Amino acid sequence: MKDRFTTKIDTSIASAVDYLTQDEVVAIPTETVYGLAANALSEKAVLKIFEAKNRPHFNPLIVHIKDWKEAEKYSSFIHPYIQQLALAFCPGPLTFLVPKKDCIPDLVTAGSPYVALRVPNHNLSLSLLQAVSFPLAAPSANPFGYVSPVSAAHVWQGLDGKIPYILDGGDCTIGLESTIIGVEEDALVVYRVGGISIEAIETCIGTKVVLKTHQDQAPHTAGQLKSHYATHTPLIMGNPLDLYTDYANKKIGIIAFHNTYAELAVAKVWTLSPSKDLSEAATHLFRTLRKADTYDLDIIIAEHFPDQDLGRAINDRLHRAQALFK
Ligand code: TXA
Ligand code: MG
Repeated sequence: MKDRFTTKIDTSIASAVDYLTQDEVVAIPTETVYGLAANALSEKAVLKIFEAKNRPHFNPLIVHIKDWKEAEKYSSFIHPYIQQLALAFCPGPLTFLVPKKDCIPDLVTAGSPYVALRVPNHNLSLSLLQAVSFPLAAPSANPFGYVSPVSAAHVWQGLDGKIPYILDGGDCTIGLESTIIGVEEDALVVYRVGGISIEAIETCIGTKVVLKTHQDQAPHTAGQLKSHYATHTPLIMGNPLDLYTDYANKKIGIIAFHNTYAELAVAKVWTLSPSKDLSEAATHLFRTLRKADTYDLDIIIAEHFPDQDLGRAINDRLHRAQALFK
């Protein structure tokens, strides 16, 4: 697509409201990643999201609402598990897949009878949602397939000229996309691991969840394509001490949890949390993947993180990043 706009970056909510009410798209900050927002009730506006991102139309969009109380406007049925989790975690990095009402265009859900609803936990976005009379459809504000943006500058790098406005809300505090859940046959199902851990969900509802995170085309998970979040530089997961010797003559970068690998003669090591805090590591992950891409490396070696709490979401994103190169 040819560039249509001189993209502005600013903190004015009024400007964002102006663009959105004219059916334009605006990048907005959330606690997880930046979103590319448009009026969810306007097909014309939603089409522009797909265009700017170069995103396939079969990949549905999350609808952002200002308050969980709004959910009943857009959904015909809220299961008790969903209600319980919404009360515990809204606003926050949890997205609920629920049966949709007719007011949500099919374009938003890619023809599915379910809509994904989320209340973002970010002051600017909540103020914006309160200032407009419609909910906001928003995927992550990156060109399709690349690492999600966690700052206004990241959005600009990917979408300059493609959108009129970026609402600058600073760095995202969670740094990973929301967890996506739904209910199938009275079981709580997790479709994407993300900013709310499985442990926290299970504690809240008092029962185990079912994981369905790696199906490319299951009915409820149209968009969970494997080759997502990819760096341009090939990325491989494993133990850097083993893999290092396989890439002896290459320019290597390592993404590590808490180790510094000072003993290895590599171009660069990024240690995501010296104090072994998985939430801190998650916050730094996407920023680090983007930085690693600017180092002209031959290969990025990423450690496996502990498979617990936000470590699961980190491993999921790294797996998807390496899928392209397998
Ligand atoms: O944290 C987040 O969730 C961010 C911020 C901006 O809210 N959004 C985000 O959007 O990550 P996106 O489009 O990059 O990922 C949304 C995922 C996609 O995999 C999509 O397929 C799935 O949610 N999804 C959305 N609506 C759906 C629906 N009706 N049925 C099944 N999957 C859906
Ligand atoms: Mg995305």
